[in-house]
Amino acid sequence: MPYKDLREFIDALDKSGDLQRIKQEVDWNLEAGAITRKGCEDVGPAILFENIKDYPEGYRVLGNPLASFRRLALALDMPPESKYDEIIDRYDEGRKNPIKPILVSDGPCKEEIHLGDDVDLYKFPALIIHGGDGGRYLCTWHVTITKDLDSDWVNWGMYRAMIHDKKTLGGLLDPHQHIGLIYAKYEEKGLPMPFAIAIAPEPISTLIGTGGIPYGTSEADVVGGVRGEPISLVKCETSDLLVPATSEIVIEGEVPPYERREEGPFGEYPGYQASPKSLNPVFHVKAITHRKNPILTASNMGTPIDDCDVAMNISWALDVRTDLIKAGLPITGIYIPPESCACAVVVATKTPYSGIANRIASCIWANKNGAWLPKVFVVQDDVDPTNMREVFHAFSTVHHPIRGTQILSPTPGHALMPHLSHHDRTYGIGANVVYDCTWPKDWSKEETPKKASFKDIYPKEIQERVLNNWRKYGFKE
Ligand SMILES: Cc1cc2nc3c(=O)[nH]c(=O)nc-3n(C[C@H](O)[C@H](O)[C@H](O)COP(=O)(O)O)c2cc1C
Repeated sequence: MPYKDLREFIDALDKSGDLQRIKQEVDWNLEAGAITRKGCEDVGPAILFENIKDYPEGYRVLGNPLASFRRLALALDMPPESKYDEIIDRYDEGRKNPIKPILVSDGPCKEEIHLGDDVDLYKFPALIIHGGDGGRYLCTWHVTITKDLDSDWVNWGMYRAMIHDKKTLGGLLDPHQHIGLIYAKYEEKGLPMPFAIAIAPEPISTLIGTGGIPYGTSEADVVGGVRGEPISLVKCETSDLLVPATSEIVIEGEVPPYERREEGPFGEYPGYQASPKSLNPVFHVKAITHRKNPILTASNMGTPIDDCDVAMNISWALDVRTDLIKAGLPITGIYIPPESCACAVVVATKTPYSGIANRIASCIWANKNGAWLPKVFVVQDDVDPTNMREVFHAFSTVHHPIRGTQILSPTPGHALMPHLSHHDRTYGIGANVVYDCTWPKDWSKEETPKKASFKDIYPKEIQERVLNNWRKYGFKE
């Protein structure tokens, strides 16, 4: 059964041993951030802060909600030990079978309603997450909801937002992202863009918010498909936008055209605080509604493994895998190593013809999400792409530094990509590379080195005899 709200998900994490409760008082100013950061780097459990300095009892923060594949599997109602491919298959099934949301007239997110002068964003224990961040980031694990100006399409996406003051937030509206494309239409007509930010709905809504679902597709329908049950939506107080009814906190308002205020810096998904403070659009808040004793969710972008390395990872891997299969490429596996912070992808493939690595890379870079994977490693089907020891062995030994490296430049450059200069990030000038770790097709069988591994260099009957006798030899595993 899918979780009806974040609280049911927290109970499940508790039961499976994937939650750490902290009852001791913790400061929202850097202390909780440092704890969640270390939790990411230790690949530890989700963290529920139950006692936050300056905030009433009952106001809690859930840190690192999906920062492990165990927690992602649990969110998808799967056994926590499920494998990467199994998680992608399950996610794929849900995405292929969208279910429309249902409209309800009320919901827990309306337990308290604050309008106009009663609006105060500091009511919630927003964290200063990293040292040097530009401010308190209230929105780091949520969905921002906006409606297209000239169609019925409503977009859900996760885009960070920092508190400027009691009634305004600031954040990135990148022109490559759907929210940026939608905002540009409002701005061109001189109109304010209504928005709603749903913080801490049930876990699939936030997962899909990071997913790069295609332009024009309703993420709410996809959420229903992945849950296997429709999501219940309720109307906002100040606009016609609809939000998940069990969200812990909902923020409503408008982003006016052309207004800009300094936002950032912030620890970003590739693992650096790379971008300086910059002028970004401003979210004017007209209403806040929330559950009693609300639970704020907080992710902590940085070095691996954080929520982005797990949630965005799985969507991008599915997108790219789907396109590669559609193109008829004989791939046998795909993996975005969480250690790459979604900057590299490994594809394993059969090699029926020469140049297949370049076709694979071209197919990946043509995808909306794959476009942001500048480093593609192509390995042969005898390599498990999820096994970094095997991948690094192939890269170090099969890959030829000149013949095996193909560079494409310029490509659209990601504004947050640390290996690009400030100039290149500002103007979006990128570069991509494919590392072909497959043997050349014009080498004969005799010329091609034979891998000296257990599974490749011994006759099958010897392998079987050794495996069957392994414990008898005295080994434990
Ligand atoms: C924790 C987290 C924070 C993110 N913050 C931003 C952000 O501030 N701006 C942005 O453009 N994308 C951000 N992303 C990536 C987007 O959520 C992702 O690209 C998503 O596909 C955007 O939705 P869209 O495809 O509908 O535009 C973030 C992802 C995560 C996991």
